Amino acid sequence: MIKGYIDELFEFNNLSDEKLLYILENIDEDSKEYLIEKSHETRMRTYGNKVFMRGLIEFTNYCKKNCEYCGIQGKNKNADRYRLTYDQIMECAVIGDRLGYKTYVLQGGEDPYFTDERMIEIIRGIKEMFPNNAITLSLGERSYDSYKKMFDAGADRYLLRHETASKELYEWLHPGEIFGDRIKCLYNLKEIGYQFGAGFMVGLPRQTKRDLVKDLRFVKEIEPHMCGIGPFIPQKETSLGEYPAGTLEDTVIMLALVRLLLPNVLLPATTALGSIDKLGREKGIKAGGNVVMPNLSPTNVREKYALYDGKICTGDEAAECRKCIERRINNAGFEVAITRGDNVKWSHDNPDVKQYDEQQVSINSILGF
Ligand code: 5AD
Ligand code: FES
Repeated sequence: MIKGYIDELFEFNNLSDEKLLYILENIDEDSKEYLIEKSHETRMRTYGNKVFMRGLIEFTNYCKKNCEYCGIQGKNKNADRYRLTYDQIMECAVIGDRLGYKTYVLQGGEDPYFTDERMIEIIRGIKEMFPNNAITLSLGERSYDSYKKMFDAGADRYLLRHETASKELYEWLHPGEIFGDRIKCLYNLKEIGYQFGAGFMVGLPRQTKRDLVKDLRFVKEIEPHMCGIGPFIPQKETSLGEYPAGTLEDTVIMLALVRLLLPNVLLPATTALGSIDKLGREKGIKAGGNVVMPNLSPTNVREKYALYDGKICTGDEAAECRKCIERRINNAGFEVAITRGDNVKWSHDNPDVKQYDEQQVSINSILGF
């Protein structure tokens, strides 16, 4: 029965909640392999064997929010706070460009220091130097007006995981926050015209399989261009520090299901997945993942961006990460695409931007091998 449901999902890119729940509750080794096979086939049709690389710049770990799972939550007095200066951010962008990256992800906590004016200055600064490189922002919840101003200044994409599509679980994990506000932000980003990313954690405390079906339904409905999925990993300074981490297996299943529901989606094999298993990112890629985000942040701040314990890549230079990930992608049987990596459907609708996607620089030519 389960393979029949997977076939239906593969054929129609949709499946009822009951059937999705049935899959989650009854999947075994054999059907998991089948699911991964079908997911792989789907991604081969949309993106082929390419895996896109984006340079991640974690530019501030100040945060006014208090997400219960997150190590940089505002109330964590032990977090060693940092903010990169304008010049440091530009330097990361230059290093990234030199390493061949055509796209940056500027990620930070919800830091009031980074007002719209300051963000616009940063976006313009990068775009002046590298007009063809895409900028993705990941700065949490802001007003419609703020999202619009940053878009007009040149930001191309925005990542805002919904974290969980269960209102009850969301509001337990985010005391004082309203689930609907988060969802509204995503619809605002979509309306403004960003390529936007939603996403969720797998294995959160109290999360049920029904909650995971809600995540699947939600992403099917909102149809994001990107979807970040990673396991929950406890962080010792938080109230959830004693809970078990989400598993590789459950995360891989969710990646494969999202690929089948949204064939065109850009699906990162996340750092969190690589942190719970040595080959986590490789397994994520095989299950339908087609994006990796190697770190471009200066090494002296890497450890401070401690969303969870045991985060990988905190000691490695940007060039090291670039090489390491490339090797991992190749070993998994895939090919690196260090291009803008736009969503295929979006590229189809915006043919003028597509040309940049053809530019690709090999790491060996950069490093002089
Ligand atoms: N475990 C796994 N992922 C986490 N994130 C934050 N804290 C944790 C954690 N403890 C994720 C959230 C956030 C993204 C930047 O990192 O989903 O959106
Ligand atoms: Fe950073 Fe492997 S990707 S060291």
